[in-house]
Order: sequence, then C-alpha cells, then structure tokens
Amino acid sequence: MREGLSVVVAVDLNWGIGYKGTQNLVVPEDRRHFREITGHGTVIVGRRTLLDFPGGRGLKNRRNIVLTRDGGFEAEDAETAHSVEEALELVRDGDPEGVFVCGGESVYRQLLPYCERAYVTRIEAAPEADAHFPDLEKLPDWRLADPGEELESGGIKYRFQVWERDRSV
Ligand SMILES: NC(=O)c1ccc[n+]([C@@H]2O[C@H](COP(=O)([O-])OP(=O)(O)OC[C@H]3O[C@@H](n4cnc5c(N)ncnc54)[C@H](OP(=O)(O)O)[C@@H]3O)[C@@H](O)[C@H]2O)c1
Repeated sequence: MREGLSVVVAVDLNWGIGYKGTQNLVVPEDRRHFREITGHGTVIVGRRTLLDFPGGRGLKNRRNIVLTRDGGFEAEDAETAHSVEEALELVRDGDPEGVFVCGGESVYRQLLPYCERAYVTRIEAAPEADAHFPDLEKLPDWRLADPGEELESGGIKYRFQVWERDRSV
C-alpha cells in the first residue's frame, strides 16, 4: 500500500494503554483528537477493543475492520478479518483518508511493523495498566517527529506527539 498504515494510541508514562479491557485514563480532548486524525478513514481494531466502543459497534463515518479468530463473529458497521494477512489484504488499495491501527495491545503489537507513523497522545500519569503499547523510545527505527506542546486537562498534562519510522535504520 502506497502510504503505509498509521497508529493512533493514547499512552501513559509507562506506555500503558488500558486496564481490565478498557482505557484506564481518558483525556476528553483526546476523543476529539482521535476523531480528527481518523476522519473518514479506515480503522483496524481487535475484537476486544471494538466491544469497548460505544454500543460495541463500528465507529461512525469510518470504514471499520475488526480482527477476530471467531468465524461466526459479526459486528454492526464493521467488516471482519480473521488474520493479520486478511486485514492487510482488505486495506491493500489504501484509503485516501488514511488507514489507522487503533488497538488494542495485541493488534498494535502485530501491526506496528506495517506502520509508518504513530499519533501518540502521551499522558503524564501512571495509572495501573495491564495492556501496553511498545515503548517507541526503545525501538531504534522510530523517531519522535513532533514532540507536541504541553497541554493540560483537568490537572493532567498531555501532549499530542507524532512518531515516524526511519526506514534507513
Ligand atoms: N489507549 C488506547 O489508545 C487504546 C486503544 C485501544 C485499546 N486500548 C486498550 O487495549 C486493551 C485491549 O487490548 P487486547 O490486546 O486485550 O485486545 P484487542 O487487541 O483489542 O483484541 C484482541 C482480539 O483481537 C482478535 N485478534 C487479535 N489478533 C488477531 C489475529 N492475528 N487474527 C485474528 N484475530 C485476532 C482476537 O479476537 P477473538 O478473541 O474474537 O478471536 C483477540 O482476542 C484494552 O484495555 C483497551 O482499553 C487502548
């Protein structure tokens, strides 16, 4: 695919992304940021993350692809893919509005190698977490392209960062 995939994720100081199946820390402004980034594009999520969406259904205005190994699983407003290969095949022709990997942990880990850019909301907090995103600071082929300015919501500091893959590494 021409443009490659992008990741959209909100992480805490330890790259934690969730606890007990849901997001453990939500900055309201991040919801709007997520909508702006993903726009009218395509989102790829794991079944657990889809079921954590409002109504357990695909997101409005976007093409939704859900990964599941369950051949009988059907979700409203979402196409199913039963393997990473099948998901990649579904987005082979790309999407002019972008293709975004939106979690959860298992899907981020499997699809990160196919991603060129990561939109990371970095939240300065360290709540209990049992799901994590790979620490991009430890991956030599990822670099912080835009550190984002420090913002604050309800006393919590956060930044909208952009990371990019450096294919020369
Ligand atoms: N902070 C953030 O930005 C953010 C974003 C999204 C999610 N999250 C958090 O991430 C956590 C969920 O992550 P998770 O890893 O438990 O669940 P997940 O990645 O959302 O979904 C896992 C499910 O996806 C399916 N799947 C994964 N790999 C597959 C493959 N190769 N082929 C076919 N199906 C595949 C399987 O579904 P079946 O069991 O149906 O086979 C698997 O059980 C939650 O805490 C959530 O809140 C955080």
